[in-house]
Amino acid sequence: MRKIVIAIDGYSSCGKSTTAKAVAAELGYAYIDTGAMYRAVTLYLLERNIAFDDLPRIEQALHDIHIAFKRNRKTGRNELCLDGVIREDEIRQMRISNSVSEVSVIPAVRHTLVRQQQRMGRKRGVVMDGRDIGTTVFPDAEVKVFMTADVVTRAERRQQELAAKDEHVALEDIVENLRKRDHIDSTRAESPLRRAADAVLLDTTHMVIEEQVDFVLERVSASLFSLAALGNDQNGREAVV
Ligand code: DC
Repeated sequence: MRKIVIAIDGYSSCGKSTTAKAVAAELGYAYIDTGAMYRAVTLYLLERNIAFDDLPRIEQALHDIHIAFKRNRKTGRNELCLDGVIREDEIRQMRISNSVSEVSVIPAVRHTLVRQQQRMGRKRGVVMDGRDIGTTVFPDAEVKVFMTADVVTRAERRQQELAAKDEHVALEDIVENLRKRDHIDSTRAESPLRRAADAVLLDTTHMVIEEQVDFVLERVSASLFSLAALGNDQNGREAVV
């Protein structure tokens, strides 16, 4: 069966990665969490005390850094690997969340990561989640979903995720972090967070994960069906409409 690219963009903590992961598992596709890549660059710069405006050192860092995803055989999860070491837990900490938007506005960072993401998806058969997948990384993605949700609902979900990892953060602090990131992500000059004209909007405020997954899978079926119909038509056979 033909493989496609599924782009899931939207605000932080709307359930993008949980949905994308489940959709990828269902289809046997690769899942790529592009936010994890921006988080990894942030961790790398912080650990080396590289200032976010020190462009020559940032460019050198982008040349040296090695980012990959490794499958954890025990959990089946794809984990972020920075220079050969799994750093999945560290990149999710609040200290990284508080700086990652500043790092992701840097054009050199975006160019490097976008190129790597395009390489990762060149054979298609991927579900990629982020902020600019449907607009910049894969503007030709066959399925594009733009996720949003009420900011307090998003903060509550994030608070639970952090608590599960024993990091206890006040709800107001998370709301503030999300608002700040939303603002920086949507107003930056380089590929800002915005809904692609052909992306379908999904508001997850009152939805559970299963409903979100079903929503995306329905879009995938519709896309595969119309691609097959188009293929039949082009081969001179009867088109299915
Ligand atoms: O999805 P996340 O919250 O882990 O993403 C972390 C940050 O990375 C987010 O605040 C914005 C940035 N990001 C981006 O600019 N472009 C992407 N494709 C993915 C994430």
